[in-house]
Amino acid sequence: MKLDQTVAVITGGASGLGEATVRNFVEGGARVAIFDMNAEKGEQVASELGDAAIFCAVNVTDENSIASGVAATMEKFGKINANVNCAGIGVAMKTMGKEGPHTLDLFKKVIDINLVGTFNTFRLCVEQMAKNEPNSEGERGVIVNTASVAAFDGQKGQVAYSASKGGIVGMTLPVARDLAFYGIRICTIAPGLFYTPLFEGLGQEVVDSLSAQVTFPKRLGSPAEYGQLARNIVESPYLNGETIRIDGAIRLP
Ligand SMILES: NC(=O)c1ccc[n+]([C@@H]2O[C@H](COP(=O)([O-])OP(=O)(O)OC[C@H]3O[C@@H](n4cnc5c(N)ncnc54)[C@H](O)[C@@H]3O)[C@@H](O)[C@H]2O)c1
Repeated sequence: MKLDQTVAVITGGASGLGEATVRNFVEGGARVAIFDMNAEKGEQVASELGDAAIFCAVNVTDENSIASGVAATMEKFGKINANVNCAGIGVAMKTMGKEGPHTLDLFKKVIDINLVGTFNTFRLCVEQMAKNEPNSEGERGVIVNTASVAAFDGQKGQVAYSASKGGIVGMTLPVARDLAFYGIRICTIAPGLFYTPLFEGLGQEVVDSLSAQVTFPKRLGSPAEYGQLARNIVESPYLNGETIRIDGAIRLP
């Protein structure tokens, strides 16, 4: 799909990996709708990008909120043919710890934001994509979801996070099969350690020690590198139904 013919809904677009994707896509000629709960940051990014971007205050755990964002995007840009899902949270709690068992509320919260929120967003975007005229490849749309290497090598305390990301990986092939009829592709990106606001508060020593665990190159990933891969997925018609690790070959111990 050509980026200059793309209208993308990007969740989590106010920060980190999502924001880098918003900027990359707009640079390539796309128009984007930033779906995020952080209105201050989301409005700021959208206003920097002028007419190519809108901000929609969306909580991905709320169906009506996503539906309003989709309606606002359709009104502004007339179509949706890409959806990149980056909204998500990370938490740490062991299955059993000094305080007792993992709280069920926290487990459900992570699944609700990371997994159900991703499904609910692309489900409603697909409804619009299915109405598009297919391009010369027969494509009507493309979905890019964000898992994590924690889907495969989750560490201590990541039971809820890993379960949510494993669910995103698991959806990839069946959704590709479900949506082939409509000419809609889907791929999942599984990032390793990326330098986003999540890491900014940790201090240089922690960043150095994490960087040392990466096989090559020995550094954290930059959000722009995530954005570049998301763009490649949108632009490459033969990429479908696959989860792609972008991680400098790190395997978390
Ligand atoms: N940074 C990393 O190293 C890394 C590694 C693997 C996977 N990931 C995944 O990538 C995604 C983006 O991570 P990031 O590092 O850019 O994080 P980030 O915190 O910088 O950005 C996440 C964005 O999602 C938004 N968000 C959170 N909950 C939301 C909700 N309910 N509705 C709408 N928006 C919501 C936040 O407001 C924020 O703008 C997440 O799914 C994360 O799990 C990140």
